[in-house]
Amino acid sequence: MFIVRRIKLRFADREIEFADREVALKQVEEFAERGTRFPVVVYGPEGCGKTAFFKQAKVVLEEYDYSVVYTNPLAHEEREILLYTPSIRDIVEEVFKSFPDPYSRIVDIAIRIASRVMRKLRKPRIAILMDDIFQAIGLDKAEIYTKILLNLIEYPSGDYEKIVVLVSSSEGVTRTRIGRHLWSVMYLMWNMSREGLKLLYDVVPDPKPLFEDVWRFTGGNPRIFEMLHSFSWNIDMVISMFIKERDIRGVMASLSSEEIEILRKALEDPDTIFRSLRNPATQKLEKLLIELNLIIDVWERDKFWIDTPPPEKDLELGIGEYYAWQTPLHREAVKRVLV
Ligand SMILES: Nc1ncnc2c1ncn2[C@@H]1O[C@H](COP(=O)(O)OP(=O)(O)OP(=O)(O)O)[C@@H](O)[C@H]1O
Ligand SMILES: [Mg+2]
Repeated sequence: MFIVRRIKLRFADREIEFADREVALKQVEEFAERGTRFPVVVYGPEGCGKTAFFKQAKVVLEEYDYSVVYTNPLAHEEREILLYTPSIRDIVEEVFKSFPDPYSRIVDIAIRIASRVMRKLRKPRIAILMDDIFQAIGLDKAEIYTKILLNLIEYPSGDYEKIVVLVSSSEGVTRTRIGRHLWSVMYLMWNMSREGLKLLYDVVPDPKPLFEDVWRFTGGNPRIFEMLHSFSWNIDMVISMFIKERDIRGVMASLSSEEIEILRKALEDPDTIFRSLRNPATQKLEKLLIELNLIIDVWERDKFWIDTPPPEKDLELGIGEYYAWQTPLHREAVKRVLV
């Protein structure tokens, strides 16, 4: 096992090192050693740390001699949209030149680069990290792109030694759309553990709320922690903004009184949904809450998790055995609109 260099990240207006996630990094090493037989799709709450993890995974894979192509079409800065191992620069530039408007086709470009690497290098180790691509290519194309990535593994354009394909998504529909085919393996990734969040908490200067309060409000989600910080710890403002941006009022207004009743109970215990899944009203509500990225089904804790799964049950954080609110903030936003 290597002592992996930890990447630098922007967090709450400062530069910090990638923190915690030891189990996840060990899993990347296992992927590196074996390769992935299928594209590994990592789905988890928005802002839980998928992009940070993929960027750190790139470094781990490079330590294992992989040529890595990483793309995040939604990255804020152009230079973050495509990252790659410097030794394949010539191939990248060649492919880039062959597209008239490369940034609009970056997912295709990343795939083309990967096949070119297979053809040009002798038995390479190659990794393709597709961060948040489904939103960019359109959710309707998510399935077809997963199939294209599987084809890259099964019918490569050249001989390779090992291949690792990771895809991330925070879109609720991923589970049903992608999960219904045998084209990928789906893993869930959760918010940070208490210990992980504490590491981030410690780098943020005073004045700040007590750690316990931050934990109860964020449930370990680093993005929400950042939002709280940028709004000078004004929780009410963060919740109001969330309600407005997601149009939670509009969504709630569209629900029937039966759905509202189920939802009220699900605020106390998200497993209410599981217990009444035979009811068509619950089925509709479940689908909606998942699609709106408010809840996630977290059915099994013992397999297919990247890093550590959420606790078995923690109703204070909105985590049940079968379903969980993405974070306590998500739940609070719904609660405020309903009362
Ligand atoms: N392990 C970590 N160590 C330090 N900072 C982290 C870690 N994980 C995430 N962060 C920081 O938390 C914030 C949110 O993380 P990130 O952008 O990776 O989430 P995400 O799951 O990719 O979100 P989205 O679903 O919107 O794509 C970022 O500022 C990121 O740098
Ligand atoms: Mg991301």
